[in-house]
Amino acid sequence: MALSGLTPFTTWLAATPVSQAIGEIHWITPAVQCVHILAIAVVMSAILMMDLRLLGLVGRDDAMQMSSRRYLPWVWWSLPVLFVTGAALIIGEPRRSLQNPTFLLKMSLLIAATALTVLTEQPLLRNAGFWHNRKGVAKVLAASSLIVWVAIVICGRWIAYTQE
Ligand code: HEM
Repeated sequence: MALSGLTPFTTWLAATPVSQAIGEIHWITPAVQCVHILAIAVVMSAILMMDLRLLGLVGRDDAMQMSSRRYLPWVWWSLPVLFVTGAALIIGEPRRSLQNPTFLLKMSLLIAATALTVLTEQPLLRNAGFWHNRKGVAKVLAASSLIVWVAIVICGRWIAYTQE
């Protein structure tokens, strides 16, 4: 598969002192995984609250804009934490993710999920009534967003069980 083209890079990365240190110091990987998982909990809670509000299933007495204002910053603050902890996990065991089709799928879904979140939530910050006359579109986008974010979690866990 095309991913084998990455072997020289992953072999080089695995031989770097940082990668060796992550592998040899046994508490680093589980500690980084814990932070990754805590950030996932934050991101998913925020996404769930915003999408359920757009679907009209929670907080119907509050404006949609209020849920974006309240929860969107949690998404934008968690993503860099996920990125840094994810990068540390990759450096510790480069082949395991970089040459794994499930990891590539997860990253593609992450781009789609981020785009969906920007598309649904960002307009609300500028205009509180943005979705008032487009409730159907908002619901489709919110449902898609939930599905894609959940798919990312599933792919994240699945990386451990797939190989190139
Ligand atoms: C921002 C960039 C991200 C990178 C670079 C990244 C990278 C990684 C890596 C390398 C692993 C270890 C996989 C393994 O070796 O088994 C992992 C695990 C995982 N990731 Fe991410 N990730 C990112 C974002 C996310 C996001 C946004 C989510 C979900 C919302 C997520 C969910 C998960 C899950 C559920 C696991 C499995 C944790 C475990 O079972 O210990 N990741 N991630």
